[in-house]
Amino acid sequence: LNDLIPVTEAMKRASAATNDALEVLLPKPDGLHKRVQEAMRYAVFAGGKRFRPFLVLHSAAIFGADPRSAVRVAAAVEALHSYSLIHDDLPCMDDDDLRRGRPTTHRAYDEATAVLAGDALLTLAFEILATVATHPSDAVRSRLVLELAKASGSAGMIGGQMIDMQAGETALGLDEILLLQRLKTGALIEFSCVAGAILAGATEKNEERLRLYARDIGLLFQITDDLLDETGSTEKVGKAVGKDKDQNKATVISLLGLEAARAKAQALADQAQERLRPYGKEADILRQTPYFLLERDN
Ligand code: IPE
Ligand code: IPE
Ligand code: MG
Ligand code: MG
Ligand code: MG
Repeated sequence: LNDLIPVTEAMKRASAATNDALEVLLPKPDGLHKRVQEAMRYAVFAGGKRFRPFLVLHSAAIFGADPRSAVRVAAAVEALHSYSLIHDDLPCMDDDDLRRGRPTTHRAYDEATAVLAGDALLTLAFEILATVATHPSDAVRSRLVLELAKASGSAGMIGGQMIDMQAGETALGLDEILLLQRLKTGALIEFSCVAGAILAGATEKNEERLRLYARDIGLLFQITDDLLDETGSTEKVGKAVGKDKDQNKATVISLLGLEAARAKAQALADQAQERLRPYGKEADILRQTPYFLLERDN
């Protein structure tokens, strides 16, 4: 566990830097529409782990991208992720009352405001990426926009959410569950890792390596999310637990059981670490990250 202290510290630093950027980038509540802007801030500044921003910042560091660019991309992906959580919690989806340790946005405000705050965070993410301050190169910015659009759209995160919503009705096999998880959670994690390479203009080979690493930890991240739903506590994870079972959600655990799910997560961690073998010390934090995920309790 001592080996994981640097990751914990790096997560804290990434979180602080991302929060500073979000503070500036999120609109200040003002005018007749200020309610939606308050709700955006409510959802974003509720104490998320900032795991995707952490990935952006550390993948950018491997390739020497400008940290001022990286932190804006980190803020963009966190805005988009926060939107996905607001909508995921709505009564028509997972119907959750607690998120990040406090009432979900539709509970604190109302459903219409929550839908709108989510929509606004989604579009804000693209506004941030498209702004010149994010990167001086038009080509780099449009590449980021393209990748995030693909990752979050119907062949990415939304596709995964669609399969997830239907998963109670149709029995899914392991490959289908893995696809569901790769899309609903993995796609954004994939974007976060590849973004660092894009920002630095790294070679396609490097981009591909980071993508494969991200596929492993994306799956690992969702398996540990499912494990926490099954065995974690509400105080620690800041959201209701035991919901997957209640809602008959298809997960690796529901299909294989706890032990096999843990073994799968462990194997993914080893494989993810291996993907980063070609890099030097600058990749140490990302090499330890899969083991950090195995131990996480929130
Ligand atoms: C929760 O994401 C939803 C999933 C995709 C599993 P996180 O576990 O990253 O949630 P926060 O951002 O820390 O609240
Ligand atoms: C949510 O997955 C994934 C997205 C929001 C894209 P879950 O429904 O498992 O996330 P939690 O457990 O509510 O955080
Ligand atoms: Mg869900
Ligand atoms: Mg949910
Ligand atoms: Mg979950």
